[in-house]
Amino acid sequence: MLNDWVVLGDLPSENMAKNISKNLNIEFKFIDVTTFNDGEIKIRIDGDLSKKKCILVQSLFPDVNNKFIQLLMILFRLKQDNTTLRNLVIPYLAYARQDKMFLPGEAVTIKMMADLLNFYSLDNFITVDIHNISSLSFFKCNTINISAIPYLANYFSQKYKLKDCIVISPDIGGRMRAEHFASFGNVPVYYLNKTRNRLSGEVKIEDRLDFDVCNKDIIIVDDMISTGSSIVKASKILKENGANKIYVACTHALLLDNAMNKIKQSGVIDIISTNSIPNECSKVDLSDAITKSMQI
Ligand code: R5P
Repeated sequence: MLNDWVVLGDLPSENMAKNISKNLNIEFKFIDVTTFNDGEIKIRIDGDLSKKKCILVQSLFPDVNNKFIQLLMILFRLKQDNTTLRNLVIPYLAYARQDKMFLPGEAVTIKMMADLLNFYSLDNFITVDIHNISSLSFFKCNTINISAIPYLANYFSQKYKLKDCIVISPDIGGRMRAEHFASFGNVPVYYLNKTRNRLSGEVKIEDRLDFDVCNKDIIIVDDMISTGSSIVKASKILKENGANKIYVACTHALLLDNAMNKIKQSGVIDIISTNSIPNECSKVDLSDAITKSMQI
């Protein structure tokens, strides 16, 4: 046991934090969080953390805003004890989609978050499939972005025998992720033309395809499913164009607004995601990949 180390974690990342602590043979400590009637929260971590080197695992979903305040409280508590925060792991980094000023007057919120985290001296910041890799430049510490794609691709190749399969990204922004996924099966990869109305949030996908999906099995690859609109639109268009079985591989499945049912109704057979957000789709465990990425 590495006695001068501690792994801290709270729901929903508790299991991942425990797996990491087992992998590294380091004590795990639970972070006790209380919510008061007025919405305020209080955190408590038992014991003296001074002279300890710490790994903190904290996903930012659900309840993203509270989770972020909670994270700042934990960092403040560690600073009080002069704990060395060697690895901050945020498997799902909320707000990563607010990475630029899409409309005049907006805030680049991911930069604000990085600035706040930069105030606490972190050694390494680890996340998984950040929406836009260039956002990592906002962090002053060493940053590690783990790709879940090889693990998702491996799951698919073990579970499904896909004939004449095609990999599709719902938009050009996710093209490289889809290409990475397709490279594991050496299968063709295409992307759809998706646009989002920046005021209403409405998603549109061009329904004319310049590639053939007729009788093909499809794997749609995306970094995240939020409301499911992107996947539902993509799946409907692919079905209209004669696609056979449709599957979805994504890293972070938030599955808001009954997304799971809507996606299944649109013709998708199965959704596979990772435990960056633990739920019914999270069949791919990233604990080992995250452990291996750590500097101890
Ligand atoms: C957008 O660029 C992302 O990669 C996802 O496609 C998007 O955030 C998914 O959101 P929703 O499920 O609400 O369409």
